[in-house]
Amino acid sequence: TVQTDFKGKKVMITMGPTQEALDPVRYISNHSSGKMGLALANAFRSRGAEVFVVSGPISLNVNKSDFHWQDVKSAQDMYEAASKIHSQMDICIFAAAVADYGPAEISPEKIKKSDSTLSISLVKNVDIAAKLGSSKKRNQVHIGFALETENEAKNAQSKLKKKNFDMIVLNSMKEAGAGFQVSTNKVHVFHASGLTAQSDVAPKDQIANLILDQIKNIPVWV
Ligand code: PMT
Repeated sequence: TVQTDFKGKKVMITMGPTQEALDPVRYISNHSSGKMGLALANAFRSRGAEVFVVSGPISLNVNKSDFHWQDVKSAQDMYEAASKIHSQMDICIFAAAVADYGPAEISPEKIKKSDSTLSISLVKNVDIAAKLGSSKKRNQVHIGFALETENEAKNAQSKLKKKNFDMIVLNSMKEAGAGFQVSTNKVHVFHASGLTAQSDVAPKDQIANLILDQIKNIPVWV
C-alpha cells in the first residue's frame, strides 16, 4: 500500500554543506554529502508531500525535477533562498551542515603564497534555522539536526530550545555508521514536548521514514 500521509503538505529541506569563498579558487566547507537530506526529500515525496529543496553543493545522483530544487553555495545564499519560501511551508527540515563562520572578506584575487603562516579572519554566518525559527507561525513545524562530538544530548536539547525547533534529530560523530558521508545513520530524537525516540544504525532512507513517523507525534500535526 502506498502511504500518502503527507499529502497536501509543503515541506522545505535544507541539505548538504555550504561553501564560504576565500578567494576565486578556494573555500571553507565541511564533509556533508547531502545523503540524509536527500533521503528525507525522497521519503516526503513518496508519502505525498510537495518538497522544496535548498541544497548546498553536492555530488549525488538526483532527479531534481522530482522536487522544487534550488542550488546554493554559501550560508547567506541558503538563508536567502530559504527565507523566500519559508512562509508558505507547513514543515521545514534543517538538515544542512551550514558553515558557522565565513571569511570576513572575499579576496577578489587569488591569495598569494608569501609568509610561512597565514591568518584568515572569520565572521559568524547567519543562523538560518534560528532566524526562521523566530518567525515560525503556530501552524508551522520546524525540525533541526544536531551533529555533536561531546555532551551530545545536552547540546541537542539546548539547540532545540534556542532555535525554536519542535523536534531535533541528534546524530553523533562518535557512533560508527552515523553522521557525514556514510549511507547509514543512528539517531536520537528529542521533541519539544519531552517525547524521545532512538534508532539503531540503519540506512538513511529508513532513518528518514522514522523521522517522518516522529513528525506525526508533534501536537500541531493533529
Ligand atoms: O549530508 P550527509 O553526509 O548525509 O550527513 C548528514 C548530516 C550529518 C550533515 C546531517 O544529518 C546533520 O546532522 N545536519 C546538521 C549538521 C549541523 O550543522 O549541525 P549543527 O549542530 O551545527 O546545527 C544545528 C542545526 O542548526 C541544524 O539543523 C543546522 O542545519 C542548523 N543551522 C546551523 C548553523 C547555521 N548557520 N544555520 C543553520 O540553519
